[in-house]
Amino acid sequence: MIYFNNNHINILTKHVPGPERLNIELTTSCNIKCIMCRGKNSYVKDNNAGKFLRVEDFVTVLNGTDLNRLKLVNLAGNAESLLNPDIVPILNVCRENNIIVELITNGTLLTPQISKLLLGFCSEIHISFGGSTKQTFESIRQGAEFELVCENIRTLSDLKKSTNNQYPHIWLNPILMKRSIQELPDIIKLAMDLGCQGVACSHLIVSSPELIEESLYFHKTECNTFLQKAEVLAKEYDIKLIIPRYFTAESSCDEGNNGHKEAWKNCRFLWNHAILGVEGIEPCGSYKNMDFDGNIVRNRFMDIWNNDWYANMRYMLLTGNPPDICKVCKDPSVKDVNNIGSYFTDEFLPEAIAYAQTLETTHLSKDLELSC
Ligand SMILES: C[S@@+](CC[C@H](N)C(=O)[O-])C[C@H]1O[C@@H](n2cnc3c(N)ncnc32)[C@H](O)[C@@H]1O
Ligand code: SF4
Repeated sequence: MIYFNNNHINILTKHVPGPERLNIELTTSCNIKCIMCRGKNSYVKDNNAGKFLRVEDFVTVLNGTDLNRLKLVNLAGNAESLLNPDIVPILNVCRENNIIVELITNGTLLTPQISKLLLGFCSEIHISFGGSTKQTFESIRQGAEFELVCENIRTLSDLKKSTNNQYPHIWLNPILMKRSIQELPDIIKLAMDLGCQGVACSHLIVSSPELIEESLYFHKTECNTFLQKAEVLAKEYDIKLIIPRYFTAESSCDEGNNGHKEAWKNCRFLWNHAILGVEGIEPCGSYKNMDFDGNIVRNRFMDIWNNDWYANMRYMLLTGNPPDICKVCKDPSVKDVNNIGSYFTDEFLPEAIAYAQTLETTHLSKDLELSC
């Protein structure tokens, strides 16, 4: 057992070195409308679209961090980073300061100019993907053109080849759902054709009622079958593959459990990782509004990072008394694959559970042996 004295507690709560990794949101706008987009639910609903982090503010933010420790910025956020009008100078600032960039993008604005800028110092680019066919792709990523996204990816991989650059590693990121799961093996083939290094899949998190039936929680056998096919192909084509765990027969509709494990015991945010939204700092996905001024342009990041709110949160977690919100941590990396609560936002979970029960009683589910 590790014994913490007051001095240790002080260091671990109030004098925490700056994070090595920052997620920075460059805008609240997007140029397309994906059917499942979680981001659009927050910014479009609250009429928050149209905000951009300008390059001067980006520099102010970086100067407020511990630049000796900061190694990587992840440019993803809830919208489309490449829409930021200052994206070119922002990428240049990162390059000049030896800060590695990770980018998650819809790929529509990945012009040759941006691709050239990414060469050599962007470690990974993740292109969010729909299906392997134009029809499925465009039915999910509405407003994006399948051929254009593929062409942009091909241009980036050709540029890498012609300049002998290993980086960025290019990943396709499909969101797994009923309408696209059969196309996963073909996405692996496409990734190879386009010169990508990997495919990273995540399950759909349903945040609107019309998508409830798209959740693979209701199509478990089918999901497992295509995950397996994809694994075989990825091995054959030497494509890295990240997939969710397979469904097993232990599925649960226990709403009380809600799919959350004790994630707070391994919280990756309060000590190592921070999310900087255009609006201000978000300590993690669960905390949108804190009772402190988290504006990262007005305040030095390091002053926020070790303020009383952070210190108190760290103290509660270290002493085994997490606040209620941490007990139901929403970090997708720790969710239980077999629990229905992992696939729906709290708002739509009761509806999804009711649907699951209908399937069970009417024996409509082909996946009965795996359903709850
Ligand atoms: C909100 S987007 C922002 C970055 C960029 N616009 C893009 O699409 O890649 C970040 C990631 O979240 C994923 N995403 C959006 N809505 C989701 C949902 N309901 N369930 C699972 N992943 C989702 C997107 O596919 C994307 O990979
Ligand atoms: S491209 Fe990204 S931010 Fe835009 S709607 Fe799609 S998932 Fe949301």
